[in-house]
Amino acid sequence: MKSKKTQVCIIGSGPAGLLLSQLLHNEGISSIIIDRQSRERIEARVRAGVLEWGSVEALDEAGIGARMHKEGIPHAGFDLAFNGDKHRIDIKGHTGKDVMIYGQTELTIDLIAKRLEQGCEIIFSADDVQPIDVKSSSPKVRYSRGGESYEIECDHIAGCDGFHGVARSAIPDAVMKTFERVYPFGWLGLLVEKPPVSEELIYANHERGFALSSMRSETRSRYYIQCSLNDKVEDWSDQRFWDEFSLRMGPEIASNLKTGASFEKSIAPLRSFVAEPMRYGNLYLAGDAAHIVPPTGAKGLNLAIADVRILSRALVEHYKKNNNDYLERYSEICLKRVWKVERFSWFMSMMLHQFPDMSAFEKRMQRAEFDHIVGSETASRSVAENYVGLPLEM
Ligand code: FAD
Ligand code: PHB
Repeated sequence: MKSKKTQVCIIGSGPAGLLLSQLLHNEGISSIIIDRQSRERIEARVRAGVLEWGSVEALDEAGIGARMHKEGIPHAGFDLAFNGDKHRIDIKGHTGKDVMIYGQTELTIDLIAKRLEQGCEIIFSADDVQPIDVKSSSPKVRYSRGGESYEIECDHIAGCDGFHGVARSAIPDAVMKTFERVYPFGWLGLLVEKPPVSEELIYANHERGFALSSMRSETRSRYYIQCSLNDKVEDWSDQRFWDEFSLRMGPEIASNLKTGASFEKSIAPLRSFVAEPMRYGNLYLAGDAAHIVPPTGAKGLNLAIADVRILSRALVEHYKKNNNDYLERYSEICLKRVWKVERFSWFMSMMLHQFPDMSAFEKRMQRAEFDHIVGSETASRSVAENYVGLPLEM
């Protein structure tokens, strides 16, 4: 078995793992990243599109914000719509900050390029990745590649390998507690090379189901509709999607819709999930490996960024000041924030979707939530504060 050595071994080359590696490198701490997928597959994945302002600042601090500022689009607000009635959440007015429209795909491309340019070893297409001895002071990660077996010795392991990764399973069942809610529908999303239907995002609750208008640039739109979990992408021709999206957005918005052939179409399930604790020995979980939020609050990527900001600061305290206090409290610090973001994502999801067995009372409750936000400056501010991002507290 061939052996390598580093300070922090990072499992997963998604935004969490890559940004963690960058933040550690900037402080002179070494890391190796291992991913089971190829670079091409990782760079082609279409996922989130909205960055909180704190995430934008973190990317600037990490020294990888240049293309984001050139190509990203700051947004000062978004619309909530309910059966045709619209209400703008004035993010900037309430918080003094914007959010940034910049695709996770682009961010991942930027991070991989920068990490490789700076000489970081990223092992793509690794098989049988396995964290071992995570409770000991010399944890290791084993993997195989091209028929050879490898072992990486390290001080700490960061489990940034997403919801379906291996890191979480290194925490024994007796220690781990999980919390989950699976929603009885999915989101069908498509990308189209056409200007967005509206300058800002629109989150719409309609009797036929939820719809979201988002974008990647001035010329590229990202649209979603709530669909059944039994639906297949093949069931949805582009024309069927445009017809349904137009109905849910209403005639006024639909009259501005520029349709065309989609170049990506996929269905994602919706889930709320939290694993506690996020630390076990010298293993630290970050991002989707530890928690999932339904995408209705645009929080998954931002939560992953917040986790690795906290973890990198804790590791810097450990290496530079011999202070383990933050590492010991890593789980507690992250989970406090995670649960607030889970709450917001759950609240937005509950307010905006059609649930299969909704009672008349529940339907009225959804409408009352919307009317409350419309009628109350305080309620609107609360939505804006959560959407733009809660402060990072250590
Ligand atoms: P990931 O991006 O999942 O990265 C994990 C990495 O670990 C991957 O590269 C994977 O290949 C690797 N990996 C997995 N298993 C192993 C293993 N055994 N060994 C080694 N490596 C492994 N959020 C939003 O806010 N808006 C959205 O529209 C949105 N859409 C989404 C659509 C989908 C299909 C998914 C899955 C997520 C979506 N999210 C969305 C959530 C958001 O993209 C995630 O929260 C974000 O990607 C989390 O980053 P991460 O680095 O923690 O995990
Ligand atoms: C996206 O553009 O993909 C997107 C935007 C906002 C969300 C979810 C997804 O809440």
